[in-house]
Amino acid sequence: MMEEYLIKKVKAEEILGVIHPGSSMFVESGCAEPQHLVRKLIVDNIDLSDVQVYTTIPLRTYSDFGGDAGSRFRIHSFFVSPGMSGPFSTGKTDHIPLSSDMLDRLIREGSIKINTAVIQLSPPDEKGYMSLGVTVDIVRSMIDHADIVVAQVNSFMPFTCGESLVHISEVDHIVEYDEPLVSCPVEEFDFETKQIGEHVANLVKDGSTIQIGFGRIPDAALKAMKTKKDLSIHSEIITDTVIDLVRAGAIPEGNMITGSFCIGTEALFDFVRQNRQVRMRPLTHVSNPQVILTRTPFVAINGAVEIDLTGQSCIALGEQGAHFGALGQPHFNRIAQITKDGKAIIALRSTSRDGSISRIVPRFTESKMGIFTTQTDVSYVVTEYGCVNLFGKSIRERVLELITIAHPKFRKWLLDEAKRMNYIYPDQVLPPEDSLYPARFEHGQTFGGKDVFIRPVKITDERGIQNLFYSLSSDEKFHRFHSHVTSLHHRQAQQMVNCDYKNSLALVVEASEAGKSHIIAITHIIMDDEEAKRRTCEFALMVHPEWQNIGLGSYLLKTMTQIAPELGFEVFRAYIWEENTKMLHAFEKLELHRYATTGYNVVKLEYDLDPLAAPREEPRTHSGGNHEDDGLIIPDDLDLIPDSKILF
Ligand SMILES: CC(C)(COP(=O)(O)OP(=O)(O)OC[C@H]1O[C@@H](n2cnc3c(N)ncnc32)[C@H](O)[C@@H]1OP(=O)(O)O)[C@@H](O)C(=O)NCCC(=O)NCCS
Repeated sequence: MMEEYLIKKVKAEEILGVIHPGSSMFVESGCAEPQHLVRKLIVDNIDLSDVQVYTTIPLRTYSDFGGDAGSRFRIHSFFVSPGMSGPFSTGKTDHIPLSSDMLDRLIREGSIKINTAVIQLSPPDEKGYMSLGVTVDIVRSMIDHADIVVAQVNSFMPFTCGESLVHISEVDHIVEYDEPLVSCPVEEFDFETKQIGEHVANLVKDGSTIQIGFGRIPDAALKAMKTKKDLSIHSEIITDTVIDLVRAGAIPEGNMITGSFCIGTEALFDFVRQNRQVRMRPLTHVSNPQVILTRTPFVAINGAVEIDLTGQSCIALGEQGAHFGALGQPHFNRIAQITKDGKAIIALRSTSRDGSISRIVPRFTESKMGIFTTQTDVSYVVTEYGCVNLFGKSIRERVLELITIAHPKFRKWLLDEAKRMNYIYPDQVLPPEDSLYPARFEHGQTFGGKDVFIRPVKITDERGIQNLFYSLSSDEKFHRFHSHVTSLHHRQAQQMVNCDYKNSLALVVEASEAGKSHIIAITHIIMDDEEAKRRTCEFALMVHPEWQNIGLGSYLLKTMTQIAPELGFEVFRAYIWEENTKMLHAFEKLELHRYATTGYNVVKLEYDLDPLAAPREEPRTHSGGNHEDDGLIIPDDLDLIPDSKILF
């Protein structure tokens, strides 16, 4: 075996002649780029003439890009990494846009004919097998189809498990040369990137299998998953962050880490060395839908640089230093959506790094470099301002959803543009720019044995609240609105969802069924600005009939009496129809100083939120009526419900 190895061993200088003018080469890339061979056979090889160099994901630039007008060689890459974007934008290299699941086909069907494959391998084992190590991607197909295979054997290349073996007999020339592999450290994450990462991580359930795309943001998402449990990885790219997850116990020992190329540092190369938990496999395997469908729930996390208001996103803007090329991103994004409980997540910053340009745009900017997800392929979108799910949403709903995760300073502009394009209602309103969504009020609870999620209302809840309204009986509608309302049009419904979270706040309760969440309750407090003496808020509530009598209403009432003082309210007020014994009963349970009056069949309840406030004089007691049963003190003289804002 070793005899064959020794026969094939040459110096790079001895094989310069294998690359003929007009021929095509494949050069392995990523962290496995055979740097010595690239130098000797390409960069320093002055006899090279009109050679086409195909490569997958080149992280380093080839110094002179073929010299004057590419007369020596021209690079064709399937991915334009940051270092290549400059030469690409000046026309010095070619980019072949192709999903990575199709690369193999390109070679097998002969669309690209490779004369010389230049690869890098680990030293051989006793049986004569060498390992492709940190990059497997389409190298196997290249070895099978190239006329000549030249390998740099480098002891820095780790022997990896999976499908990474190449036998000496499959290689024509071996050049031994030891040198550290190309290293690609992850940049420090800035505040926004970390925020995005955390929002993405919040969407990931324990037990999920993760795919990440190229770049900082998907990596930041992975980093934010350290406290998860039972994760696995099935991704073209593996980064150093995977080590953190293994060390933190988020990826337990028995769970598989499958990848096709490592983009990272020496720490990662050491980690994958002879590690049976890590399986390096060809792109054909990693992107195989049949395989992915078994890795449920599958979560695809990919970046984008711009998304338009209809939900289509693009991968690059033709800027220097930007990377682009789809790799398998659209493919994984799509398949994640058809796996059971799968999630397809597109994550991006809401603005350019300097904050001057919104990355959520009415229409794509001119420099865009290729649509990554179409309108029909998008579901979760995440920015540093939160997460929205566009699945099954109309253009109008998408616009509003995306505006809620745009940078506040661009929201009004996006709203105006969307109106101009007739995407949304002409009278559509937005909360004021300075109203920050109070995520601190988000929490989970259990009612009747079912988990619900309680959160501040968003403008995108309009339809959900309309549906809740229509689920109520006519008596219940009357109890809520004190008049016989039969419909809740956009104009009224949008008032209910348009809170500034300072003078008005609503909480909604979401329940999930078959993966779809719907609103089962909403409660409001709104400032009474007529009330000059003490800052007073008015309260209202509605609970879906199927969720009543299990304590939800009482809980929301109590919660609002706790939130109200936080917003600076001193008095908590409600107008309750006197026959609404259920609601009155819920109020009875509040342990606050109460003051009640009645008139026109409506009970006006007021509570001191400030425990130090001087008690007010009680009104005279109602002579008859059944309210005394409820312990209420009720006079019958009042002109109640003035211009109540909460009743519309
Ligand atoms: C009133 C409403 C909000 C109550 O919601 P809910 O989730 O059912 O409330 P709860 O489950 O906390 O029940 C409230 C209490 O009333 C009690 N109750 C139920 N039916 C009652 C009745 N007919 N008479 C008196 N008390 C009654 C319940 O037993 C519960 O008391 P408990 O916790 O001490 O057992 C709900 O029925 C609703 O949405 N109604 C329509 C809109 C409305 O009336 N809004 C209030 C005015 S803004």
